[in-house]
Amino acid sequence: MSGKAILEYEGNRYELPVIQGSENELAIDIKNLRSQSGMITLDPGYKNTGSCESAITFLDGELGILRYRGYAIEDLAEKSSFLEVVYLLIWGELPTQSQLEKFHKDIVQESIVDEDMKKILDGFPKSAHPMGVLSSLTSALIAFNPRFVNVSSDEEMYEAIVRIVAKFPVLVAWTLRKRKGLPLDYGDDTLGYVENIHKMMFKKPSGEYKKNDIIIDALDKLLILHADHEQNCSTSTVRIVGSSHAGLFASLSAGISALWGPLHGGANQAVLEMLEAIQADGGDTKKYMAKAKDKNDPFRLMGFGHRVYKNFDPRAKIIKKAADDVLADLGIDDPILAIAKGLEQEALQDEYFVSRNLYPNVDFYSGIIYRALGIPTEMFTVMFALGRLPGWIAQWREMRLNQEPIGRPRQVYVGETLRSFTPIENR
Ligand code: SDX
Repeated sequence: MSGKAILEYEGNRYELPVIQGSENELAIDIKNLRSQSGMITLDPGYKNTGSCESAITFLDGELGILRYRGYAIEDLAEKSSFLEVVYLLIWGELPTQSQLEKFHKDIVQESIVDEDMKKILDGFPKSAHPMGVLSSLTSALIAFNPRFVNVSSDEEMYEAIVRIVAKFPVLVAWTLRKRKGLPLDYGDDTLGYVENIHKMMFKKPSGEYKKNDIIIDALDKLLILHADHEQNCSTSTVRIVGSSHAGLFASLSAGISALWGPLHGGANQAVLEMLEAIQADGGDTKKYMAKAKDKNDPFRLMGFGHRVYKNFDPRAKIIKKAADDVLADLGIDDPILAIAKGLEQEALQDEYFVSRNLYPNVDFYSGIIYRALGIPTEMFTVMFALGRLPGWIAQWREMRLNQEPIGRPRQVYVGETLRSFTPIENR
């Protein structure tokens, strides 16, 4: 604990503990505020409210810092693999070589999805948005993996985590192949985790799968960069659903739906659609900048701004460089990248954006790489969900192991006060 905060109201004085995080963040602990004062706090969107104490991810929005379990995102993106980061986020330490090999071997053992799940997939029209399909299939996994998981059993939790880390990529690949009208692919146990995901997504029924290191490395890096981001909207959803002791798969399914929103993970799809609209408009970025600043126009510059980062999103910096590298390595000259860079330069010099600390976020450049990798625009947020899976799992597990209470915010009621019932004949 780090001292006390004093709240004075109508002659009463309330002392509230102040706690300090390991990066010296300070928080006023209001756990007992209502019992002491009869008052609650009000904070729409929880812009000033911490929901938990967590040891998983640290962000500093002012300095543009992001660390998973103390490791800088720049180091992990450069030197680690996505499967290592999955292990790190969930169990708190980077795996040894033998731990990583066992983790991957156990995942391979669990990477078959029950054939009956296909009947659920077949029920969707080709036009169904992949995020809706993915959320439904993830929830349906409960029917095929009904075992209640004792969260305090390391062994049971390990098995449940391996199961979802193994099967989720199959569902991701199925959503793409369904949309393309392709037969489902079962993967290859001899491939690496991310390579196998790419194979399940893109192997042609009539041809051999050929690994492209540039593509696999780019995919691996993108998945690392999306893996966790403390208490964002979808992670908070996973936590609050899990706080009722709903199962892991049900909580993840809810998180996928939250991520779908265009203000959150759905922004990566919205960015590409915005850039394509600007391209179709002859590259008229000024028109879209004006729309983004017009309070009467609901349009926002997608991929810009962030609840926490009031500086560059460190992930956006890494993805912007990766976009240059991947397109150059693949020999792709995508005019959309030039439009994105032009838009960024304009916004970074525009008083409206500068005064509001609006910088490119993780979604601004990621779609350009996905597009270069042959991933359709409507699949971009599914790729975000694939990356965020370990973060959701880690945060759900931490919430349950910390035995956090069911999430149930209060409110300030502003409706009608008591009034007598009027029978319908008198209305
Ligand atoms: C993700 O939380 C996370 O960590 C999320 C995420 C993760 O890894 O989980 O990082 C992933 O969701 C990134 C964000 C993707 N969303 C977008 O790119 C959509 C566009 N961005 C905005 O909608 C907005 O910036 C948010 C939703 C990201 C943040 O919104 P806030 O924190 O609620 O800020 P706000 O809406 O109160 O905006 C403050 C001001 C407002 O203007 P004023 O009322 O002060 O005049 O900035 C303006 C806003 O109108 N503003 C924008 C803008 N973003 C904010 N104006 C134009 N274009 C924008 N993009």
